[in-house]
Amino acid sequence: MANSDLMEKLVSLCKRRGLVYQSSEVYGGLGSVWDYGPLGVEFKRNIKELWWRDMVTNRPDIEGLDAGILMHPAVWEASGHVEGFTDPLVECKSCHRRFRADEVKDQCPICGVKGQFTPPRLFNLMFRTFMGPVEGEAAQIYLRPETAQGIYVNFQNVLNSSRQKIPFGIAQIGKAFRNEITPGNFIFRTREFEQMEMQYFVKPGTDQEWFDYWRHERLEWVKSLGVRAEKLRLHQHTREELAHYAYDAYDIEYEFPFGWQEFEGIHNRTDFDLSRHQERSGKKLEYFDPATNESYVPYIIETSGGVDRQMLVVLADAYREEEVEGETRVVLGLKPELAPIKVAVFPLVKKDGMPEVARKIADDLRSRFPIFHDESGSIGRRYRRQDEAGTPFCVTVDGQTLEDDTVTVRDRDTLKQDRVATSKLVEYLSEAIG
Ligand code: GAP
Repeated sequence: MANSDLMEKLVSLCKRRGLVYQSSEVYGGLGSVWDYGPLGVEFKRNIKELWWRDMVTNRPDIEGLDAGILMHPAVWEASGHVEGFTDPLVECKSCHRRFRADEVKDQCPICGVKGQFTPPRLFNLMFRTFMGPVEGEAAQIYLRPETAQGIYVNFQNVLNSSRQKIPFGIAQIGKAFRNEITPGNFIFRTREFEQMEMQYFVKPGTDQEWFDYWRHERLEWVKSLGVRAEKLRLHQHTREELAHYAYDAYDIEYEFPFGWQEFEGIHNRTDFDLSRHQERSGKKLEYFDPATNESYVPYIIETSGGVDRQMLVVLADAYREEEVEGETRVVLGLKPELAPIKVAVFPLVKKDGMPEVARKIADDLRSRFPIFHDESGSIGRRYRRQDEAGTPFCVTVDGQTLEDDTVTVRDRDTLKQDRVATSKLVEYLSEAIG
C-alpha cells in the first residue's frame, strides 16, 4: 500500500467509524481543527488514562495538576514565548499564500512560480484574545501554547501542599493552541491540540542522569502501547533545532506515512523557566534541601507529548489489510486496553429469540466493559465493522445458545471462535482484555 493511500484510508476510516470528524463540517470545515466522535473520544480517553496511570497514579514521586488555559500575560513574557515562540514565514508574491520558510525551497508549492518569496519574517504562533469587556493592549491575553507554564508557576503551591522532596514531578494533560502557519497531515499538526506533559524537578548536576532516565522511560512507554519498535527512533536536537528554553532535547519519532516525524520530546530545560519566573514575579521559586541545608532553583527535565499525535502513531501502526476468503479485511489491531469498544454482542440472526438473549448479555456486560450491541445486517458485515473499529472480541448468540447457554467469542486477530458458557463470559473476557 502506498503511504499516501494509507493516510487517505485512515482519514476515511476515522470518519466512517466515528473516530474523527472535520470541525464545523456542515459549514465547509475549519482548517486544522478536528472533532473526536463517539469512538474517538473513548480512544483518546484510553490513551490519556494509560498515561495518567503510568505517570501519576503508579508513581509516588509525581503529582497531578490541571491549570487554566488562560494565564497572566506576564507568564508568556517571562517564559520567552512573546519574544521567541516564532516561526519564519514567507509569502509567495504571486499567489499570496504563506508558508513556513523551512518548508519551501525556491518554488511555490501552490502556484509553481519560482523565486518569488518575500524575505522571511518572524511570526508569533500564540493565539491572542482579550479578557473582559474592553479590547485593547491592557486586556490582551494568550491561549497557552504549552501546558508546561501552568506547572512552573504552581511549583511552590504543589511543593507546599504535597510535601514532595526533590526529585519529584508534576504532570498535566490539557489543551494547547498554536497558530501554525502550515498545519496538516490530519491530526498531526493542528491549531488546537492536547498535550500530556510532565515536569521533573531535580537538583542541578543530576539533570543529565534524569534526562537519560526519562528518555528511556518514555520510549518504553510508547512501545508498551503496542507500537512496533522498528518504526520508532530517537533524534537528538542539533544546536539550531533546540527551542529557546532547552539545553538538550531528544524527539521520539515515528515513521508516519508522510515520513519520520516527532510526536514527543524530552527536554532538559535547566533552571531557565523557574529562574525567569522568579526574576519577573519577584517570588522565590527555590527549593530548600533539608539534608544539606542549601537552597537552589531546581533544574527541569520535561517529557512533552501530544495526545492527538500519539493517537495518530497508534492508528497508523495498528492499521492493516488482510485477504480473507477473497475479501479484503481492514483491521485496527489496537491493544485491548486502547480499543474504544472492548466487546461487541450480536445475535446470529434477528429471530428465534436470539435478539432477546443478546440484549440481555449486552446489558449484563455493559457495566464491566465498553460494549457495542448490533442486531441488523449480515453477521459477516457486523464482524468487519468491528474489525475496523479495533474491537478485540465479538460475542455471538446462535442456535446452540438457546439449547446450552453458551456463546461464541471471536478473536479479532486470530479469527478463532471459542465456545464459552454465558455464566463464565465476564471471567473469560476480563482475562482476555487484561
Ligand atoms: N512544553 C514543550 C513543548 O510544548 P513541543 O515540542 O513544542 O514542546 C510537544 O510540543 C508536543 O506537543 C509535540 O511533541 C507534539 O506531540 C505536540 N504538538 C506540538 N504542536 C502541535 C500541533 N500543532 N498539533 C498537534 N500536536 C502538537
